[in-house]
Amino acid sequence: MGEIEEKLVKSLTGETTELIPHLPYLLQDLWELGSDPKEIIGLIRKNIQKVEDLKILDLACGKGAVSVKLAKELGCHVNGIDIIPEFISYARQKAFEFGVPDLCSFRAEDINISAARERGYDIVIMGAEGEVLGSQEEAIQKLKNTIKSGGFIIIDDAYGREGVSGNYLSREQWLKLFENEGIQLIEEKLVKEDELSDTNDKNNKFIINRANELKNKYPDKTAMFDSYVNSQLAECYELENDIICVTWLLKKNS
Ligand SMILES: C[S@@+](CC[C@H](N)C(=O)[O-])C[C@H]1O[C@@H](n2cnc3c(N)ncnc32)[C@H](O)[C@@H]1O
Repeated sequence: MGEIEEKLVKSLTGETTELIPHLPYLLQDLWELGSDPKEIIGLIRKNIQKVEDLKILDLACGKGAVSVKLAKELGCHVNGIDIIPEFISYARQKAFEFGVPDLCSFRAEDINISAARERGYDIVIMGAEGEVLGSQEEAIQKLKNTIKSGGFIIIDDAYGREGVSGNYLSREQWLKLFENEGIQLIEEKLVKEDELSDTNDKNNKFIINRANELKNKYPDKTAMFDSYVNSQLAECYELENDIICVTWLLKKNS
């Protein structure tokens, strides 16, 4: 469980697994935790036919913002999986609120287990989840197994800006990876930078307020909450300056 927890906390920009029990509280004011549902809906509408018949797997679905909006807008079936039970309860509540409980099913589980079991989807989504499924190459191989031949993969991730050295693959490295794995790039959407910084500013205000409440409640953990806020701000700086956030629609050839 150690490695899974380490990656979980990293996927939400935390630094210590001690933070895990506090994540639902810190993130209670946010619904979207990474990917932009409207970009994903736009990509599917534009490139895929008979959207209402689609069966979609949303891995590490967070609080279900993408899953619920896909079901609502496209009328398709979505199966969302995330490891944080409170996020899954929230996603179920949202599916009711949006009138799509019959189109959505949600489950609390480690997606490494789900990816080894789930099969036969038209589309699988991996939205802003870092290295939860392993390296980028391992992740793509696991995603490919969950979809039919001719099915689609949607990846929301980022690549390094030219000339900036960092931990991110370059765009060329991503494209080479897709080619090596036999998947075809259908469309690429870059995140609009002004929208990104507006969203980050808004979200960071909420997170800072909640972190301050937790600091009052657990004064002995002040350093941990401060460090979380700082790493959240540093990640936003990186997203806005060093890397380019992107959503890719990819097709499995066979
Ligand atoms: C940055 S959020 C992205 C959420 C969602 N895909 C979105 O774009 O809104 C990363 C998510 O990965 C989930 N996660 C991390 N490790 C996981 C694991 N092993 N299994 C399932 N979910 C995991 C976290 O709980 C969190 O909801």
